[in-house]
Amino acid sequence: MIGIFDSGLGGLTVVKEIIKKLPNCPIVYFGDTARTPYGTKSAEIVTKYAIENTKFLLKLGAKIIVVACHTASSTAMDKLKEVFPDVPFFEVVTPSMRKALALTKNKKIGLIATRTTVESKIYDRLFAQADPEVKLYSQPAPLLVPLIEEGWLKRPETRRIVKKYLIPLKMKGVDTIILGCTHYPLIKKVIQEKAGKRRKLVDPSEEVAVEVEAFLKKHPEFYTEGEKQEPKIFVSDITPNFERIACLFLGRRIKLEKVNLE
Ligand code: DGL
Repeated sequence: MIGIFDSGLGGLTVVKEIIKKLPNCPIVYFGDTARTPYGTKSAEIVTKYAIENTKFLLKLGAKIIVVACHTASSTAMDKLKEVFPDVPFFEVVTPSMRKALALTKNKKIGLIATRTTVESKIYDRLFAQADPEVKLYSQPAPLLVPLIEEGWLKRPETRRIVKKYLIPLKMKGVDTIILGCTHYPLIKKVIQEKAGKRRKLVDPSEEVAVEVEAFLKKHPEFYTEGEKQEPKIFVSDITPNFERIACLFLGRRIKLEKVNLE
């Protein structure tokens, strides 16, 4: 069973991509809707939450853990691997970095993400190690998460804000932009339109799904083949609005089950 967690329901974009690749592998998802957002919180607190979320998924029988949340992927991985040394972890930052490196021609790469992800400087470190010639330009885009959760995917207000966030990256001449947040794949078309069609976008939900599939093919001991079934979705808080948001991200209605992590 694959365990996937996120600060909330945005990580269902990752669930959707993993289901496309592994439709018969059982999935259990935890969305920390009681404590969302993570993108405005400190690395320390996000790490604490990430450990609790992982414990919960392992208790349910998950054999591998996918950290769908970009903010947790940026801040909590060292600690998670230290606390759970035997668990294979997947995160969304490294595959996105690799894809961006493969796509860029001029080695100027842009990143849009939450503030905490940008401030973690994880991408700066990874690119510096992988290719010191890469220039990374990062832009926090904090207004996009609430706009997307409101379902304002194509509204003029959203388009204007996307345009504003992309101006500094375009002025630097980036040819590739990483969508560094669970939510952004939902407005990929608007981002592409405002970025210009020659700029390449990296969608982390697609990249991490490729990695998970490749790993499970190589390590069948972690793979559980089951009947095609709906993923089990647990949340730490439930409201009609969270149900609506889940539907937005997964593209269909799904039952949410409330759990208490304490
Ligand atoms: N899931 C978060 C991320 O990908 C976005 C929402 C939040 O700030 O919690 O960074």
